[in-house]
This record gives sequence, C-alpha cells and structure tokens, in this order.
Amino acid sequence: MSVQTFTPQQLRDTGSLKWTGITRSNGDPTIGAWVAEMDFGTAPEVSKVMKDAIDNGLLGYQPPWLEGAIQEATASFQAQRFGWDIAPSDVRLVASVLPALKETIRRCVRPGAPIIVPTPAYMPFLTIPGALDHPVIEVPSLRTPSISTSGDEDEATLPYAASVSPKEWILDLDGIRRGLEAGAGLVILCNPWNPTGRVLSRDELEALGHLVSQYDALVFSDEIHSPLIIDPTVTFTSYARLSPTFAAHTVTATAASKGWNIAGLPSAQVILPDAALREKWDTFGSEVAHGANVIGTLGAIAAYTSADAWQREVIDIIRSNADDAEKATAGTPIDYVRPQGTYLTWWGFDGVDLGGLSPAKALREGPGIGVNAGLSLGADYAQWARINLACSPDVARTIIDGALSLL
Ligand SMILES: Cc1ncc(COP(=O)(O)O)c(C=O)c1O
Repeated sequence: MSVQTFTPQQLRDTGSLKWTGITRSNGDPTIGAWVAEMDFGTAPEVSKVMKDAIDNGLLGYQPPWLEGAIQEATASFQAQRFGWDIAPSDVRLVASVLPALKETIRRCVRPGAPIIVPTPAYMPFLTIPGALDHPVIEVPSLRTPSISTSGDEDEATLPYAASVSPKEWILDLDGIRRGLEAGAGLVILCNPWNPTGRVLSRDELEALGHLVSQYDALVFSDEIHSPLIIDPTVTFTSYARLSPTFAAHTVTATAASKGWNIAGLPSAQVILPDAALREKWDTFGSEVAHGANVIGTLGAIAAYTSADAWQREVIDIIRSNADDAEKATAGTPIDYVRPQGTYLTWWGFDGVDLGGLSPAKALREGPGIGVNAGLSLGADYAQWARINLACSPDVARTIIDGALSLL
C-alpha cells in the first residue's frame, strides 16, 4: 500500500479548510499548515465503507446496531493498540470531542467553577469554558531545563521531571494545585498534547491523578491524537486507566477523526469505566450523540478494526517530516522539539527578529505558510506558532525552508 500525496495545487483544488482557509493579506493562497487535517486523504478501507454507505443509501440517523458496533470497535482498538481493557459498554458515542467537553462542563461541573487549562493548549479549550460562564485558569507549562529535580521544593511535586528529555514541556503541578485550591471544577488534559507533541508519561499522569483526587474536581482527558504516536520509544497510557479512583473523576474522549483524517464526519467516543459517572452521562448523553454522523461512525469502525497499515505509513511520513524539522532547526534560534505524538508541532521564535510581527503573520506574509498564532494557544505564547506536519515530504520542506527564511 502507498499513502497518496498531492501537490499544493491539487490540495487547494479540493477546497479543504486547511488549504483555503488562510490567505495572505493580498489574497494569495498559502501552504496549509494549520488546522488539524492531514494531506493524505484517508485509508482505503475507511474510504470503501463510506462510499458503500452512500451507494447503499445508508444516510439517515444512527441506528442502534451501529452504536453497538462502535462500542465494540473502540474497546477492541483500545485493547489491541494500547493494552487498555475496557468493556464495550463503557463506551458512549458522541458527535465529536468538543460537544462532549461542553456537556461535561455544563452537566458535571459546579456552576461557575473555574476550569484549569495547562498551556499551550488547543485553542477551543481556552474559549469554550468562558462561553459557558466558567472562568479559565491558564497554567503555563514548564520546560525541563528550568526545573531543578534535586533538593528544592519542585522535587516533591515534579518527581517525573528527571525522566523527561531536555526541552520537553511538562505539566506544572504546582500551578494546577493552585487552581484546584482556588475551586477549579475541571482540569482539561490533552494527551498526546496538542500543540507540544508530548505524550505524557505514566509518572506524570499518576502525579496529576493523586493531586486531582484530593479535590472535588473532574478531568476531561482528550486523547483524540492517541492513534498517532510518532516516537516508537514512548508508550501511550490513558489517564483513566491508571486507577479506578482516577477513572471515577474522568471523562475520556477519543476518536478516529485525527488518526484517519475524517474530522469532517463527526463521530467520536467517550470512555467511562466508572459506573457512577457513566450513569450520570446517560442522563444527558443522547443529546451529545445526536449529531454523530453515520458515515463517520462506519469510517471509525473500519479505522479501528482494519486500517492499521495505512496509518503506520502515515506515521512514518510524519516522523520523517518531524525529524527533518529537528535537523533543520538545530543550532538556530528556533525552539523546536520533535513531537512524540500527533503531527501538530510547536515552534518558538523568541530569539528571532520578526520586525514586530507575530511568527504566524511573518510566516503567512513572507514565505506564505498558513499556521496557528501562538497567542491563540495561551497568553504566554506570542512568539510561538503551531505548525502542522501531516503533509508530503515536499510540502514539509517548503514549510521548514519558510521558517528558516525568517532568520
Ligand atoms: C486536541 C483536540 N481535541 C479536539 C479536537 C476537535 O475534535 P472534534 O472535531 O471531535 O470536536 C481537535 C481538533 O483539532 C484537537 O486537536
């Protein structure tokens, strides 16, 4: 099998959001390196079941048998890919991950309680709580070189820091603790972490879990990027898997939409191994399931059960692009860490003179690369940009050269 790649013009001609949604101020098109879509279409197995559904006229609302099928497929994928044994009955169908987050906040969090968002963070995590009258507590994350692991107070709360490679981003547990003490009702966890690319270690997740367990608070664990583990030396672990106590305060959300590139056909899953939380979810869950798309659900089932080979090839391409970016930026002022998971990457331009422009604007107006502005991912990140590397090696080269041209 060979993953299909396309030229920038072909990608623009599809009219996709990634390739048409950002233009230069003079209207010229850009290289699409922002929204979380891939340039590879989807797996042939996924494509086939979706085309068959259209040909057969299976275009109505979700029938109950399909919900049963996605529960089975999700449980078997979690067991086979990650070794997490969940029962199919622990899985609930939802339209997509963000509506699941919104309903978790609306239905499960104390009215008005602040929501902790470790930053840098996926943009909607910073805007959704406010729209629901919950203030956001941004907790800027830490870099390992700035953390002492010997002898000072950080050692007590960041025991995992020593095992994280230099420059990686890690959660600031003290900051999260302060938020919980201030009455926060929810921590939004993103693992693999959009945009830093980190796959959080078991130690780090356990430390977070022990902390959250001391408060009356929930965790929303967004694991939508978990099928895309890029670094073969890291192991992905679901937070809720680590103990029944953690599962009792956690809504885990996942989907095939990023891993197999079918985000426009909403159909995601929530995993609730805790009976009490599941019971609570079932009092409102049908409303979140309503928008799920039959074709998306069929695609997700095919993705989880029979489309591994395509994905492994895609992961190899992303890993190679990420490696190329690492080599090209080494020794330059650009602050780039190769992702362990996801194709979204996080580039710092702090030491680069961009003539007063943000990196996103400089990349857009100069070399014509459309990326996400760092400020939309957290107040501390004006000099950062989120760059999507789920593209052909040629497009990745154009993106990397574009970034280097700013130096
Ligand atoms: C971390 C993360 N969560 C959620 C979403 C959106 O998910 P959905 O389309 O299922 O709402 C994205 C999309 O980029 C994402 O990166």
